[in-house]
Amino acid sequence: PTHSLTRRGALIVVEGLDRAGKSSQCELLQSFLREHGRAVKYIRFPDRSTPIGKLIDSYLRGSANQDDHSIHLLFSANRWEIAKSIEVDIASGITVIVDRYSYSGAVYSAAKANPTLSLEWAWQPEIGLPRPDICLFLSISAEETAKRGGFGAERYENEAMQTRVRDLFRSLFDRQEDVEVIDAGRSLEEVSRDMQAAVTACFDRLDAIGPLRAME
Ligand code: TMP
Ligand code: MG
Repeated sequence: PTHSLTRRGALIVVEGLDRAGKSSQCELLQSFLREHGRAVKYIRFPDRSTPIGKLIDSYLRGSANQDDHSIHLLFSANRWEIAKSIEVDIASGITVIVDRYSYSGAVYSAAKANPTLSLEWAWQPEIGLPRPDICLFLSISAEETAKRGGFGAERYENEAMQTRVRDLFRSLFDRQEDVEVIDAGRSLEEVSRDMQAAVTACFDRLDAIGPLRAME
């Protein structure tokens, strides 16, 4: 009986372009939530530690090639293989912070401009995954990312790809509910303050939301 009295945790997704500050902000958010007495777990996608994740890792590093559709489905499978454990954690009262999720999945694949890989096609395998209670999108301009230094060596880390990703994130988030756009071109403190406010408001809505929902 005590089980049914456990308040569930929240599923919080943090999205954004490379160098938007996702990792630092996820750390700050974890500390904030722990200071407020919440049990928190942090996960990131791709999870490169699983067998599927290792395939993704060698693709991103450029040591293996993959068909666009095939690698897309592997990124999605990498979420599905961890979906159940997210549900279990949330039900047991743990708040899960996820660094990149289905939104990155759909947008990076669609940005390849493959004629048979539309944003709509790319979204389909995400349907049914645990749906975030809130998605914090760290929005950053091309000018600001340029100021933050050079690209890394991984696939997708180039100007043309990042520009298409930025545009696609915008058109995807026009159609999504529960997305909070945060101006990430400011100081760490300013950005984290906005994230904390959005997450606090999300916790206030959690009873009204009810059980963890599924992605549509
Ligand atoms: P990371 O830099 O956050 O580790 O992500 C690696 C790259 O993988 C990044 O360029 C975004 C991309 N990506 C996808 O293409 N599809 C996905 O489903 C995810 C989660 C990331
Ligand atoms: Mg990266």
